[in-house]
Parts: sequence; C-alpha cells; structure tokens
Amino acid sequence: MKIVIIGATGLIGQQLVDSLNDSGHLVTIVSRNNNKAAKIFPSHSGFASWNGRNPNALVGLVNGSDAVINLAGENIAGGRWTKSRKQLILDSRIRSVKAVTEAINQAENKPKVLVQASAIGYYGTHPEVTFTEDSGSGNGFLSEVTQHWENALRGLSSEIRLIIIRTGVVLSEKGGALKKMQTPFKLGIGGTVGSGRQWLSWIHLEDEVRAITYLINKEGASGIYNLTAPQPVTMKEFAKTLATILQRWSWFKVPSFAVRMLFGQMGHETILRGQRVMPARLLAEGFVFRFSNLQDALKDIYRKN
Ligand SMILES: NC(=O)c1ccc[n+]([C@@H]2O[C@H](COP(=O)([O-])OP(=O)(O)OC[C@H]3O[C@@H](n4cnc5c(N)ncnc54)[C@H](OP(=O)(O)O)[C@@H]3O)[C@@H](O)[C@H]2O)c1
Repeated sequence: MKIVIIGATGLIGQQLVDSLNDSGHLVTIVSRNNNKAAKIFPSHSGFASWNGRNPNALVGLVNGSDAVINLAGENIAGGRWTKSRKQLILDSRIRSVKAVTEAINQAENKPKVLVQASAIGYYGTHPEVTFTEDSGSGNGFLSEVTQHWENALRGLSSEIRLIIIRTGVVLSEKGGALKKMQTPFKLGIGGTVGSGRQWLSWIHLEDEVRAITYLINKEGASGIYNLTAPQPVTMKEFAKTLATILQRWSWFKVPSFAVRMLFGQMGHETILRGQRVMPARLLAEGFVFRFSNLQDALKDIYRKN
C-alpha cells in the first residue's frame, strides 16, 4: 500500500513507519521539518515537507495513496498549560485535521482510509466509571481538545473509510509518559503520585502499532476505536509494578498539591486524574493484544524475563 503519515516523527509514528516499511509498504513521511525527519529515518527515502496547515499543498501527496494516517499535534505533556500552550495544542490539531479533510476531498484519486489520532481524554476523568466507545464526552481541557479535534473531521467525503483512534497512555522506553515516570524510580525515589486510586489506561507501543495496522487492513472497520490494553490499572498498581520490574523501591508518595504546584492544570488532568477505558470494539472484533497485562508489557519494555 501507499501510505502517507503526517506527524510520523513522533513516538507512535516512528515505530509505525518502521513496522510498515518492514511489511513492504510504500510510506511517505510528511513533516514540518524534513532535516529532522531524515535524521530520524536515515535509511528512508519518501519524505515530504508540509507546514501543517495548507490543504492545497497536501492534495498532491494524498492523491493516489491507499491510506492516510494523521498523528500530528503539539505535544500535550510538553509543558505547563499556559494560555498560549493550550491554544497551540488545540490549533495544531484542528488546523491539520481541517487541512487533511480538505485535501482528501479535493483529491481526484482519494485514499480508501483515513486514520485520525485522538485520545481517551475525550471521556473526561472518573474514579469509578468504565468508558467504552459508546460513552459520551466528559469535561476538562483534554476532553474539549479531543472533541474539537474529532469534530474538525466533519465534512470529510463519505467515500473515505474514517477511523478515529482514541489512544490511551502509550508505554515505551523511547519516549512519552513512561520515559518521564521512570526517572524517579531509577533514582530509587519512585512511588505513588496523588491518591494512587486514579486509573491509568495504558497501551504498549507495539500493540498501538499493531492495532493501527489491523484497522487499516480490516475492510469493514470504521468509526471510533479505543486503543488501550484490556487491563487498565490504578496509579498505585502502576507504581508497584514498575518498581518491581526495575527492582527499585516504591516507598515515596508525591502529594497532589506538589503535582499541582509543579505542573498546574496539566498535572491535575494527566497525572492526578485518570479514566478506566476498555477497548470494547477491538476485543469484540477478536483483535488479540500482545500485552494485555501491565507486568508483561513492562517486562518486555525493559527486556526482563
Ligand atoms: N503518546 C501517547 O501516549 C498518546 C496518547 C493519546 C493520544 N496521542 C496522540 O497521538 C498522536 C501521536 O502521538 P505521539 O506520542 O507520537 O506524538 P508526538 O511524539 O508528540 O509527535 C507528534 C508529531 O506531531 C507533529 N507536531 C508537533 N507539534 C506540532 C505542531 N505544533 N503543529 C503541527 N504538527 C506538530 C510532529 O511532527 P513534525 O515535527 O515532523 O511535523 C510530531 O512528531 C498525537 O496527536 C497525540 O496527541 C498520543
């Protein structure tokens, strides 16, 4: 297949490109910065530069492709959510989705499928409720962002098979949340953050990539899919499991006020609150997760037997 990936230089995109290349697909990496992209993928040849907003410049790229995957967006956990950062987080997503939608609509030979990134933040946070794809939207900045992000797809030609992936916290040692969370544990000062009762709906990076590939290939698949492992954990359980795998202590407790002081609203929504999300549709369709259980996932990530 000819596959165009926007935002391919990020945590998910890098693994996805490698996996699709290994399977023999023809991947075009679309980035705002081709030099950066070429450094990340030294043996890759298909690059295209795009500013993240101009639909006309994308038409030629998506025209004649089989699939388009849009992962682009300013990093959510890249810093405190100041007013201007919040605007950037929102605008970067809406601009790229609107441009991709318009470019696909304009293309003469439209791709068959568009995979659009979204997040489980859509559901808001809750200490007890279990969310599935049928659940409604919640409250908070992340929920608002994901709602606008998904709504920006309105107007996409109905000829396209649209898949929206609401992804949980992707676990990988290469980046994302785990890379940040592991540091205190490696230093021997790891432990529970906040009450420890908040849910963490995680997914191993390998399963994230497998699920995206599965959804592209599955002819009848369309609509919303939760990409989370079927066994979410509480933050307390997460800390305990991570400490066990890393063979470190998990004695420390980071109180909620300290998180709020350090990270503001970003810490409140992404660290102190959580949501229990099930990948109901993937499970119903028989998708088999390689890592359903956190311990197995972390053992694999840190290569421990
Ligand atoms: N990782 C997770 O745990 C997780 C969880 C839920 C949802 N998601 C969503 O899934 C998508 C991919 O995740 P990821 O972890 O791979 O993201 P990431 O590492 O932050 O990378 C996203 C890519 O988006 C592009 N980008 C960054 N800032 C941008 C901006 N201001 N305007 C336009 N493009 C920008 C960059 O590509 P270029 O610099 O090459 O243009 C970057 O490589 C994201 O939209 C993310 O919100 C991720």
